[in-house]
Amino acid sequence: MNLVPRPVPHLPRSFRWGVATAAYQIEGAAAEDGRTPSIWDTYSHTPGNTAGGDTGDTACDHYHRMPEDVALIKGLGVDTYRFSLSWSRLQPHGRGPANPKGVAFYDRLVDELLASGVTPWVTLYHWDLPQELEDAGGWPARDTAYRFADYAALAHDALGDRVAHWTTLNEPWCSAMLGYAYGDQAPGRRDFPAAVRAVHHLLLGHGLAAERVREAAHTRDHPLELGITLNLGTATPEHDTPEDRDACRRADGLGRRVYLDPLVKGVYPQDVVADLAAHHGAELPVRDGDLETISAPLDVLGVNFYRGTLFSGRTEDGALQDERGRPVTRAVERDLPRTAMDWEITPTALTDLLLSLQKEYGVPTVITENGAAFEDTVGADGEVHDADRTAYLADHIDAVAEARAQGADVRGYFAWSLLDNFEWSYGYAKRFGIVRVDYDTQLRTLKDSAKWYRDTIRLTREA
Ligand code: FCB
Repeated sequence: MNLVPRPVPHLPRSFRWGVATAAYQIEGAAAEDGRTPSIWDTYSHTPGNTAGGDTGDTACDHYHRMPEDVALIKGLGVDTYRFSLSWSRLQPHGRGPANPKGVAFYDRLVDELLASGVTPWVTLYHWDLPQELEDAGGWPARDTAYRFADYAALAHDALGDRVAHWTTLNEPWCSAMLGYAYGDQAPGRRDFPAAVRAVHHLLLGHGLAAERVREAAHTRDHPLELGITLNLGTATPEHDTPEDRDACRRADGLGRRVYLDPLVKGVYPQDVVADLAAHHGAELPVRDGDLETISAPLDVLGVNFYRGTLFSGRTEDGALQDERGRPVTRAVERDLPRTAMDWEITPTALTDLLLSLQKEYGVPTVITENGAAFEDTVGADGEVHDADRTAYLADHIDAVAEARAQGADVRGYFAWSLLDNFEWSYGYAKRFGIVRVDYDTQLRTLKDSAKWYRDTIRLTREA
């Protein structure tokens, strides 16, 4: 474990260093200043959906502590802060006019960041659809894509004079699959064909929003770097057999290619389309012109990486089909160190991923999230000696540098997360922060990993 801060090789001076958060996970003030409920308010307030019944009502109280949090960010010496806008705070009914108090909050945040020398990087949508839009059909309904484009234009209108970095969506796979197919996240529906419609409408929403934001930036002569963030991993066959390779093809198809192929190449992968019809009775509701909209050029691809996965095409009993007669796509557990999420720690998969993205898609990348939850303890000295998290960050930053050395055009790394926060269905039980939050007092304490990150950034810049 390389826990002593040192300069990371192969990273250019322009390499972007950041920390990331998301609105519902940190802001709190859920019912203040005109904000209406999002699907996450409804979902977290429904008994049984989150660990301990936790909700984002207060979270890290960032809405009221924003200047203190920006000071923390500045103190870390990062150049970029990635945060998301709460749609139901900015445009409470999911349509119609902006909420002046919502705009005022993000105005203050952006101004505070700029005054602190930190570049704001805005995510328009990190999973928190206004509930009213879910009631009107949510992402399985095509209209939501148009509502999203209007919201994007409204947000850019408010902040685009000072914010150049815009991400449309965070992890549409999670919105579509966890939200509409598996019910593990808001809105908690379990309807696979609806989830597949959501996939297409999220991508369409991205494309329509990108068009509007690009046009507005161009007309007003504002600088713009626009992208989308996907959660990406690697799929490796357990054995070099046709069935294990086919399991990887399916996992990669629904996890990665069904997003990246239309975004970058303007086509949906035919094997995925065929599998969806054959095995799920599901169809992507594509209309004429949609794929041109979706495939408008991206300036940057945001990559959220947590782990790589080994796949088998057989059940544990060796069968090739599951009980419903579908081919088996089974994640195989390995004897590897794990995080508190029970996720395997696989840094070399990040190098492999970045190199394969470079080869297959060729879009510049930024790691918009990477990090780990561990069972932190506060020592007798009041400090959090999170060597496990520090090692995780160190190994993954090395993996990024290695990918760069081998030719991947990766331009930045943002640690997930600045603060311990509301980890969705896991509530506050899982801590991803490099800064500890005491939820009783809202006291923030830099963990050892935060100090290591700060010193590593400084040493790398100076090298
Ligand atoms: C990602 C989410 C982020 C956080 C991390 C742990 O999927 O984008 O909000 O929950 O996982």
